[in-house]
Amino acid sequence: MDRLEELRAREAKAREGGGAARLAAQHAKGKLGARERLELLLDPGSFFELDMFVTHRTEEFGLSSQRIPGDGVVTGHGTIDGRRVWVFSQDFTVFGGSLSEAHAEKICKVLDLALKTGHPVIGLNDSGGARIQEGVASLGGYAEIFLRNTLASGVVPQISAVLGPCAGGAVYSPAITDFVCMVEGVSYMFVTGPNVVKTVTHEEVSFEELGGAAVHGGKSGVSHLTFPDEPACFAGIRTLIGYLPANNQEDPPLVESTDDPQRRSPGLRDVVPENPNKPYDVHEIVAEVVDRGSFFEVQPDYAANIVVGFARLDGRTAGILANQPAVLAGVLDIDASLKAARFVRFCDAFNIPLVTFVDVPGFMPGTEQEWGGIIKHGAKLLYAYCEATVPKLTVILRKAYGGAYDVMSSKHIRGDLNLAWPSAEIAVMGPKGAVEILWKREIETAQDPVTLLEQRTEEFRERFANPYVAAERGYVDAVVDPADTRALLIAGLSALASKRDANPLRKHGNIPL
Ligand code: HXC
Repeated sequence: MDRLEELRAREAKAREGGGAARLAAQHAKGKLGARERLELLLDPGSFFELDMFVTHRTEEFGLSSQRIPGDGVVTGHGTIDGRRVWVFSQDFTVFGGSLSEAHAEKICKVLDLALKTGHPVIGLNDSGGARIQEGVASLGGYAEIFLRNTLASGVVPQISAVLGPCAGGAVYSPAITDFVCMVEGVSYMFVTGPNVVKTVTHEEVSFEELGGAAVHGGKSGVSHLTFPDEPACFAGIRTLIGYLPANNQEDPPLVESTDDPQRRSPGLRDVVPENPNKPYDVHEIVAEVVDRGSFFEVQPDYAANIVVGFARLDGRTAGILANQPAVLAGVLDIDASLKAARFVRFCDAFNIPLVTFVDVPGFMPGTEQEWGGIIKHGAKLLYAYCEATVPKLTVILRKAYGGAYDVMSSKHIRGDLNLAWPSAEIAVMGPKGAVEILWKREIETAQDPVTLLEQRTEEFRERFANPYVAAERGYVDAVVDPADTRALLIAGLSALASKRDANPLRKHGNIPL
């Protein structure tokens, strides 16, 4: 065999991974192979593989005779729409994708290079966890990965797709990264599996019920994006990458927009109902204002009382946040605060301006919320908005009441451009609640308390439930025709593109965790 032939033969062997039968078993579970996944994720022909011939170094448990080149993870770099990304893709056909010391070293090499070169890193996880035969060396490998994920946090975007099992401590690598993607019927994540759960808590629960895509997309909020199948997942990651800068020193990519920046939206004048208690779907407003079809929602099924996601305004990436009156009247609760706070911090870390649409009646009352710590969780969102130095643009659509007014990107916490629609109601609390407190005694002793309450409420509404009291103080910069919102936000983003602001020097702040 000449040298080149030998190389080709070794490469072919490495590409086989755990062999055809195991790959067929993978397909039978509705899953793709590690290399097939990279083909769908990356631009055709762009993948350059590293460490194809790396093998584990274990002699025990008869493993010295089972050395599969690559050792269960395919690593390297490639491009997405021509932009560089670093990748690793665990191969379940090799020792169940389990993580050996060598396997961990391959992943660490990619994470180190992503950090040094300033390009995003995408990890495709499909693994039985720590390589049991390697014991503590494997645990050490995980910790090395966690450390690198942490050091890369806020420096380069990190995206994880969970495409099979992800259990035990292994879940903490995806959890530290910026976005976790899951596929229905394929992905599951849990710290302890159904068997341990049964032993400890006597609960009978399936893999799917314990940690499937629906659970983490809807209940726990651990995952950010859920897809029906793997090809949709890779298409989704490609789309997501398109909104993001390569690293924290760069601005997000500017794309050519085909949507008129001056496009007016007269229909927006009728979206917010006259009756302040009637809901509407804030998606309608977001979709109308941003470049057509550009809204990419994150965590749509978790804490749906706040909507977050990326969009473009005249080709510029923006992070969108919007209270959702159609769900729980758009109230801020623990989950909504956590979801929004994390999104705000991601955008701030990666120079993505924030555009916030406000219609919020306040924070959610009740023992469940108070005992659950709504104070510290709501404070996270407040803290995230306060510390953010990216351009912050706010549109008050209707209600902006109480503490929630302050939190939702208000002028006082360094909002740069704060607009209000004529339908805005900016006050300490809703008119009825205010009247019940201020005129309590008068109403109690009145001959006709109901009429008096209604009368006083109407007077209060007239006087305070509007945008003009705030506008008189400069707390909103302008009260605007809803039809002009798009053009005004685009002009605002353009004016603020050169914004520079800084926080005091410190090691790091102490966000109320
Ligand atoms: C070594 C492993 C392995 C592991 C699976 N395999 N997990 N080898 N270490 N952790 C091997 C199997 O022996 C098998 O080899 C092949 O991978 C496929 O596994 P199957 O069990 O046949 O696949 P499946 O039925 O799909 O089940 C998948 C599974 C199961 C649910 C993941 O394999 C499993 O429960 N594995 C153990 C999970 C685990 O307890 N890991 C340690 C968790 S602790 P052959 O040769 O038969 O095909 C942990 C700590 C991390 O991860 C801590 C970080 C701080």
